[in-house]
Amino acid sequence: MAGLKIAVFASGQGSNFQALADAVQAGRLDVTIELLVCDKPQAPVVGRAERAGIDTWVFKPKDYPSREAYETEILAELERRGIELIVLAGYMRIITPVLVEPYYGRMINIHPALLPSFPGVNGIGQALDYGVKVTGVTVHYVDGGMDSGPIIAQRVVEVADSDTEETLAPRIHAAEQALLPGVVQQIAQGKVKLDGRKVMITG
Ligand code: GAR
Repeated sequence: MAGLKIAVFASGQGSNFQALADAVQAGRLDVTIELLVCDKPQAPVVGRAERAGIDTWVFKPKDYPSREAYETEILAELERRGIELIVLAGYMRIITPVLVEPYYGRMINIHPALLPSFPGVNGIGQALDYGVKVTGVTVHYVDGGMDSGPIIAQRVVEVADSDTEETLAPRIHAAEQALLPGVVQQIAQGKVKLDGRKVMITG
């Protein structure tokens, strides 16, 4: 293992975290996952990291007076470890300028819809409720807004008339797990260039 030092932030199941860890293990992703940051001590992703031998920084937001307070501690830990890229993979908290500013252009998020449609929570359910015929997944840089940063890559997932959240979610998650490790690899290879709102992938 070598390459870019990354930290993954996650709050829940961790299927995207697992896809990244598996890709590293399989030699398809030239990064080192230095750290999992998780805001839910009981989340399944914590066990996944422990099984993969990846350090965890687990915290309870309510132990801190503000978002800025815990993000200041996270930032210190990221800087101590020389983290070069943050991957938000199901991290269900708003990120403040404490992290966005030092990591702008070095922090990405995966979202379960085709942004700019259906930002925020429950992108899968929002798309179904709206009645779209296609939805999908987006990987984007994180800026100060809600899922509003420059888009790096998207994949389309068709919606069947009979779909429910239970039937659509597995196809969205499969699309995410297929997309995210490849995007991280392109970043690790220096192929992803950010120019204003436009992202160009070379080579
Ligand atoms: C993923 O579908 C991710 O796109 C979504 O949370 C899920 C986490 O799954 N993120 C958001 O909705 C962020 N707005 P996972 O824990 O199994 O990777």
